[in-house]
Amino acid sequence: MVTRWGFFITLTLLNLVVLTTIVMWSLWLPTVGWAGQDSDSATRGHIWTPCLPKKSRQQNSEFYKSWEEAASGQAYYHPFQSRVRVVLWSDALWWRTGVAANKDRRNNRTWYKLCPGRPACEFTREHMWVSYADAVVFHLPTLPGNYTPEMMPSKRKVRQKWVLFSMESPVVTRSKNMTSYAGVFNWTMTYRADSDVVTSYGSKSLLYNSLRALPANPGKPPRNFAREKDRLAVWFVSNCYAHLTRHHYAKELRKHLRVDVFGRCGKPICTDDKRYRSDCFKKTVKRYKFYLSFESYKCKEYITEKFWRNALENEVVPVVLGAPKEDYVRLAPPGSFIHADDFNSPKDLALYLKKLARNDKEYNKYFRWRSMGFKKNATYDRGRWCNLCDKLIQTCPQERKMYTDIYRWWKGKEGEEYCERTLLPEDIPKPHYDLSIHFN
Ligand SMILES: *[C@@H]1O[C@H](CO)[C@@H](O)[C@H](O)[C@H]1NC(C)=O
Ligand SMILES: *[C@@H]1O[C@H](CO)[C@@H](O)[C@H](O)[C@H]1NC(C)=O
Ligand SMILES: *[C@@H]1O[C@H](CO)[C@@H](O)[C@H](O)[C@H]1NC(C)=O
Ligand SMILES: *[C@@H]1O[C@H](CO)[C@@H](O)[C@H](O)[C@H]1NC(C)=O
Repeated sequence: MVTRWGFFITLTLLNLVVLTTIVMWSLWLPTVGWAGQDSDSATRGHIWTPCLPKKSRQQNSEFYKSWEEAASGQAYYHPFQSRVRVVLWSDALWWRTGVAANKDRRNNRTWYKLCPGRPACEFTREHMWVSYADAVVFHLPTLPGNYTPEMMPSKRKVRQKWVLFSMESPVVTRSKNMTSYAGVFNWTMTYRADSDVVTSYGSKSLLYNSLRALPANPGKPPRNFAREKDRLAVWFVSNCYAHLTRHHYAKELRKHLRVDVFGRCGKPICTDDKRYRSDCFKKTVKRYKFYLSFESYKCKEYITEKFWRNALENEVVPVVLGAPKEDYVRLAPPGSFIHADDFNSPKDLALYLKKLARNDKEYNKYFRWRSMGFKKNATYDRGRWCNLCDKLIQTCPQERKMYTDIYRWWKGKEGEEYCERTLLPEDIPKPHYDLSIHFN
């Protein structure tokens, strides 16, 4: 009898210990890795949430197929506890991420957390981990011209997503035979808003976040930005290929407006390593009223750091040439830019800029967005690798998708191509992605 009671008590105590451990564990875990780097209150104190609802049983399009495998039950995700692993397959992803490969590993690490707010989402470049990966990322500009199975992982887990990544425009990747990649990729990850994972050069949410970190913003009392500037217009340009549309435009513009040209195609200045992040660059740019954010290519939604980082972050009004105006209207802060398409000619634009430069009140209107609030919503941009982590974590295990016509998805339908045709001289030896500029 005594031993039976002893047994009972021991069992109850043991149960209590197990239960307490479980409760403590579940209380403690959500705080792991949550070092307050991220003030996204919507995800704070998150609990297990049903993964993306059935509406993700998407519209099939002419470019891809999506479907759902039979599921045994509802799946749940938790931003901090759902482990996801990503293999960055292409070598070129090194300089976009800092994730080292085994061979040049300096800091003895395999797994990298590219999204600090999602500590359970880890990245590596070591191919040996591919069979464990939830996603494998391929860098379109450096993929083989034709689909080459030997260059891809030899096996593929049922739930593994092959992700096509590109920050470059379809003009730059034109030498790739995209037809040969039909049916290969599950997701796209580009600067374009119709990608599965959007990885734009900048966004309203990222910009407003970085502004909030600065003490002087929002601008109250209103600053007189015009007064802080003693120079007119500046153009930093390092890709001097004269066939680019913007060169003709800039050439005309400069006949009517004083534009200081710096960079490899102009006067060398701020030539240190990270020049577009350097203090020299920032100080120089801030003295100007206008920054020519002329893109190399005129492509749908192709708005690069020339606009976001170089101009808006440095408190200078961008004069843009590139994507259609409606893209800027949709994606950029309201009233933050001057679009070349609004003028009949470079001369008209020059006249407008000169007039505006003399009118402080009118000029300062281009900075009004800085003191306006920004409402974040479902399409909140957390930065490219966080966006990938979030999408992976929130996607139901039974979801499937495959790009059947990646060529047309990327280039646009016949007659409705996303990029304006660029005259490309035959003398450019081999179309290579280095011919694009992504740094000024
Ligand atoms: C790298 O990590 C491994 C395993 O953790 C360890 O054995 C090794 O000594 C480390 N090497 C260096 C150079 O730190
Ligand atoms: C592109 O790929 C398709 C499909 O694999 C093939 O039929 C076609 O010949 C390729 N084109 C070129 C120019 O290599
Ligand atoms: C989120 O913002 C985008 C762009 O500003 C807008 O198009 C979209 O309708 C918004 N979504 C919601 C749910 O409010
Ligand atoms: C990914 O695409 C392949 C076809 O290339 C397909 O067999 C597989 O089911 C897809 N996986 C997911 C998770 O969408």
